[in-house]
Amino acid sequence: MNADGRTRLNQTPEWSALAEHREELGEVRLRELFAADPGRGTAYTLRVGDLYVDYSKHLVTDDTLRLLRELAGATDVFGLRDAMFRGERINTTEDRAVLHTALRAPRDAVIEVDGENVVPGVHAVLDRMADFADRVRSGEWTGHTGKRIRNVVNIGIGGSDLGPAMAYEVLRAYTDRSLTFRFVSNVDGADLHEATRDLDPAETLFIVASKTFTTVETVTNATSARTWLLNALGDEKAVAKHFVALSTNAEEVAGFGIDTANMFEFWDWVGGRYSYDSAIGLSLMIAIGPDRFREMLDGFRIVDEHFRTAPAEANVPLLLGLLGVWYNNFLDAQSHAVLPYSHYLSKFTAYLQQLDMESNGKYVGRDGREVEWQTGPVVWGTPGTNGQHAYYQLIHQGTKLIPADFIGFAEPVDELSDELKAQHDLLMANFFAQTQALAFGKTPDEVRGEGVPEELVPHRTFKGNHPTTTILARELTPSVLGQLVALYEHKVFVQGAIWNIDSFDQWGVELGKVLAKRVEPALTEGADVPGLDASTQALVATYRELRGR
Ligand code: F6P
Repeated sequence: MNADGRTRLNQTPEWSALAEHREELGEVRLRELFAADPGRGTAYTLRVGDLYVDYSKHLVTDDTLRLLRELAGATDVFGLRDAMFRGERINTTEDRAVLHTALRAPRDAVIEVDGENVVPGVHAVLDRMADFADRVRSGEWTGHTGKRIRNVVNIGIGGSDLGPAMAYEVLRAYTDRSLTFRFVSNVDGADLHEATRDLDPAETLFIVASKTFTTVETVTNATSARTWLLNALGDEKAVAKHFVALSTNAEEVAGFGIDTANMFEFWDWVGGRYSYDSAIGLSLMIAIGPDRFREMLDGFRIVDEHFRTAPAEANVPLLLGLLGVWYNNFLDAQSHAVLPYSHYLSKFTAYLQQLDMESNGKYVGRDGREVEWQTGPVVWGTPGTNGQHAYYQLIHQGTKLIPADFIGFAEPVDELSDELKAQHDLLMANFFAQTQALAFGKTPDEVRGEGVPEELVPHRTFKGNHPTTTILARELTPSVLGQLVALYEHKVFVQGAIWNIDSFDQWGVELGKVLAKRVEPALTEGADVPGLDASTQALVATYRELRGR
């Protein structure tokens, strides 16, 4: 029994039923499941918004899905979901509400935190962002010398970088091509150097994005950016025209020297990795314009409403979360691949890594005890078709079970030439071929039938049975991006709820930060760090020697 009065997950009858079911199913084969049910390819599909979700190529039967839904019932996933939407403080270790869904609520919605409706504040900031974005886009907002802003550099890290950087890339075809956008995150000075070396400071706007405004990488890069600007423009007053801040922390913003009139706020109930649809998305809004940004928020909302109201059998985030639990906890999968067949989604998986791994990479449960079950998987992947010529070999014929999501679009983006649009069918032929090959493989007899010499038959056989979800939409629009991101946000939520972990804190990132602060004086000044282990001591000494210190 848990301290919170709940039965431990792995002691529930629903968990045991799934473990037994796993035994009974044995080496279930996708070929057999499809042969037994010719309607499976259409029956095992769902729609949400513009997304068509095919989960037929999973190692599950109706019984598996029913048992998984029973586990969701026993762990009260929907109860926690409702508490989240109501604004309860479900992030218990930080004592915070979790209300990224309020960021895309309609103007007339009422969502209260501590008795205060937060929705008017959300829309007031969105309106200010829209006004600012329009002024930059039209050229009305100029730099200190009166020159038009042509370059926007977002400085942030983690959730204050990955979201806007990913979404900018995804929606590139919708961006104002006369503006240049760069995203600087790494404290490695090379990042800022490469981002600014060909820019004119008089035409450059820096957006300093940091929820806390204390993150060392961001504050360091922002300080260096200010020096770069002032070296060129020579007047402190230039900061007001070239720096804006996105933060929850007005005091630190003012302390840094940015006028809080140039600050766009958000709130402690928005987690960093859930924040790019808040003020953190300002660079994106400048790139695509306020109307497109709002279309994206509408897309988020479609999936929010679906997650909040759809019955368990038709609830797509619930289903995706449950499938992940099935592989992670009952079939020993260690990782989960996300493989978009769109070049524009090149940063999508990197974004999902933070969303998923920072949320669910935890070994302590909400009750403060160590879990006795696996939690979040390693999330990885890059766009197809590139991966096909790199690591798909291991997915097809390696020894590991790697469930994968394939995300594709029926239409190429409109901006492409007719010749480049014609390549789209080839891209998508690969998309469909891969999930087919992964699921059904090629038997030894099929290989022999092609006249392959006997000694090569094992090498050229594909066992198949590699599970995939296919997510297909007509085209990649701002709304579809919002729908996709909300889908994964809620999938991650479902899994955290089942594993009984707090998906909204991130204490695991703190130790490294503290140790870096302790080690830095040893590198710069050769200072003695009490209690430094022998390996790190030797490494620090070698580093100093290599630097001639
Ligand atoms: O260190 C991890 C983290 O706190 C992330 O959760 C967050 O997205 C990132 O750092 C950046 O934080 P901030 O927006 O406060 O600079």
